[in-house]
Amino acid sequence: MKNKKLSRRKILGGAVGVTALASGRGLLGAPALSTDGPALEAHDARVMSTTGEVDLSQFDPSKFLYEFDYGQVSELPDGQTLREWDIVAVDKEIEIAPGVYFPAWTYNGQVPGPTLRCTEGDRLRVRFSNAGSHPHTIHFHGFHPAKMDGVFEVVKPGGEFVYEFEAEPFGLHLYHCHSVPLKRHIHKGLYGAFIVDPQEKRPEAREMVLVMNGFDTNFDGDNEVYGVNSVAFHYHRHPITVKLQELVRIYLVNTLEFDLLNSLHIHGNFFEVYRTGTRLTPDDFTDTIMLCQGERHILELKFRHPGTFMFHAHQSEFAELGWMGFFEVEP
Ligand code: CU
Ligand code: CU
Repeated sequence: MKNKKLSRRKILGGAVGVTALASGRGLLGAPALSTDGPALEAHDARVMSTTGEVDLSQFDPSKFLYEFDYGQVSELPDGQTLREWDIVAVDKEIEIAPGVYFPAWTYNGQVPGPTLRCTEGDRLRVRFSNAGSHPHTIHFHGFHPAKMDGVFEVVKPGGEFVYEFEAEPFGLHLYHCHSVPLKRHIHKGLYGAFIVDPQEKRPEAREMVLVMNGFDTNFDGDNEVYGVNSVAFHYHRHPITVKLQELVRIYLVNTLEFDLLNSLHIHGNFFEVYRTGTRLTPDDFTDTIMLCQGERHILELKFRHPGTFMFHAHQSEFAELGWMGFFEVEP
């Protein structure tokens, strides 16, 4: 156990802020934020980040936040809406912190996979083809027939499978590979958010998807890099801009492997929690929420004060290894 911890720290040193802090360049966070203020102190939370930038042309978490894939829409003879998607499993190296690459297995070349979105009662058809090097599946959460469960119909490299089922119940779900060893297939990056909107729409809001994840970069069965939407400290370098008093709706999904729990804490605020998004009345009002792997919740909040507010895992260790960012609230 001790060795494990040591190796994690060692890797961390190569990946994120700690090295940079010790490098003499110091004050890494300063360029991203408040450059006109006084120099930041070493213990200021704004210095905890990475140097440099990942190649955002490959995957930009600031865009991913707002990317909802509604599929190709048509109408069936009985008037039911049909949504169709093509999902391809493909091996791809992704950049999870500046200069830190991870040999991922992806849906459509990105981690997380595309956020699939539909309305309760739609007919969904997902054509899955496996262009990767290992057998994979897509297991959706929600009601569906046993043979559409993506567990026993393993799709070999070069193979295909069509999943077809009704979108129910409404809520925030997820999809992920269910080949064994599951731990490996999920952690490699085969997961995404799956939103089923209720027929009676939720109120207008700024909506965003946060998929909490992590990466085992040295294959020791433990995560070295943590984040939301894959890139360590991305929203530290690129704060999420929101407006004062606007309704913000967060679709929060936990896909983190190896660690038993993950969490989200938002500073200077409280949020309504709709557990699994399956009801239209909130279940809780809090500022910190804990999620097991596979758990997901819809959160709603409004910022009452302008300025910079941190959000992060309340496990400090995860936060310091990448799972931390800022909301920038515009007056
Ligand atoms: Cu798989
Ligand atoms: Cu699952």
